[in-house]
Amino acid sequence: MRYLRAILFLALAFLIQPASAANDPSLDDHSLLTADVQNYIGYGAIVFALVLFIVVMLVLLRTFKVLTRIILKYEGQTEEQIIAELKPAKKEKKPKGEVWNKLLSLRPLSEEKDLLIEHEYDGIQELDNPTPAWFMYLFYSTIVFAVAYLLIYHVFGVGQLQYAEYNTEVAQAAIAKKEFLSKAANRVDENTVKLVNDPAVLASGQAIFKQTCSPCHGEHAQGSVGPNLTDDYWLHGGKINDLFKTIKYGVAAKGMPTWEKQLSPKQISDVANYVKSLHGTNPPNPKEPQGTKETDDDGKQVKKELVSALVK
Ligand code: HEC
Repeated sequence: MRYLRAILFLALAFLIQPASAANDPSLDDHSLLTADVQNYIGYGAIVFALVLFIVVMLVLLRTFKVLTRIILKYEGQTEEQIIAELKPAKKEKKPKGEVWNKLLSLRPLSEEKDLLIEHEYDGIQELDNPTPAWFMYLFYSTIVFAVAYLLIYHVFGVGQLQYAEYNTEVAQAAIAKKEFLSKAANRVDENTVKLVNDPAVLASGQAIFKQTCSPCHGEHAQGSVGPNLTDDYWLHGGKINDLFKTIKYGVAAKGMPTWEKQLSPKQISDVANYVKSLHGTNPPNPKEPQGTKETDDDGKQVKKELVSALVK
C-alpha cells in the first residue's frame, strides 16, 4: 500500500509538471506540443490518476470484505451470523433534533457512554464525537468548488484567468478614457479654448469650414459676404478665444449666424483653430481689410496687452 501511494504520488507529480510549465509564458517552448495540448494532457493525467485511485480503493474494500468473511468462517460462525456482521442492521432513526444540534452533530447525553474512547490518562477521558456536520458541509463544498473552478477556468476556458481579466479591464478603461476625453474636449468654451496645431483638429476644422463657412467667407477664407479671415484685420478680435466667441454666438445684426446650435463645442474649437491656421496665406482676390489690425500670434497678443497695461 505504501509503495502504491508513493508510485501514484510520483506519477502525479511527473504528470502535473508539463501543465504548470506550459502555464508559464516566460519559459521558452522547446517542445513540439503546444501549451494547450500539454495542458490537456496534464488535466487528463490528473483525472486518470484520481479515477485509478478510486478503483484501487474499491478493490481494497472488496478484498477486506472477502478476508473478513474468510476469517469469520474460520472462527466457526454460521452464514447468517457472517451476513449480520458484514451488513449491520440500520440503526433506528433517532428523533429529529434541532437544527443547531444537527449542524454540530451533537449526540444526546444518553449516548455518551457509547462515545467514550477506551483510554484514560489521569482520569481524563475522551469522547469520540463525529466531526460537526457544518464542517463536513464546508469541506464538501470546497471539493465541489475546486472541481467547478478547474472545469470553468482551465478545461472549458469559460471564465477569465487573472491575466486575461487584467487585459479586459485595461481595454475597458481605455475605452472609458477615450469617451471621457472626447466629452472633456466637448466641454470647451470661449474661455478654455486652446490654440493647437494638431493635424487631426485642423483637418476636422477644414471639413467644417468647407461645408458651413465657405459660402460666406470664400473657399479660401478670402472673404465675400463675410470678411477676409486670413489677414491681420479683425472686427471682433483675432485671438482664438475671440474667434470661438464670434463663431459660437455669431453677429446677428451683421449677418454672421450663431453656430452654437449646429456645431458642438469641439467642432467650433476645430474650425476656429483651422481659421487661425489660415492666417497669412494670402489667398487670391482677397476682400478689403475690415476692423483693426492685430498680430495673429496669441502669445504676442498677450505681450502687447501686458505692455499696454504697463504703459497705462
Ligand atoms: C451667412 C453667411 C455667413 C456664414 C455661413 C458664416 N459667416 Fe462668419 N461672418 C459673416 C459676416 C457677414 C461676418 C461679419 C460680421 C460683422 O460685420 O460683424 C462674419 C464674421 C465672422 C468672423 C469674425 C471676423 C472678424 O473680422 O472679427 C469670424 C471669425 C467668422 N465669421 C467665422 C465664421 C466661421 C468659422 C463660419 C463657419 C462655421 C462662418 N463664419 C460662417 C457671415 C457668415
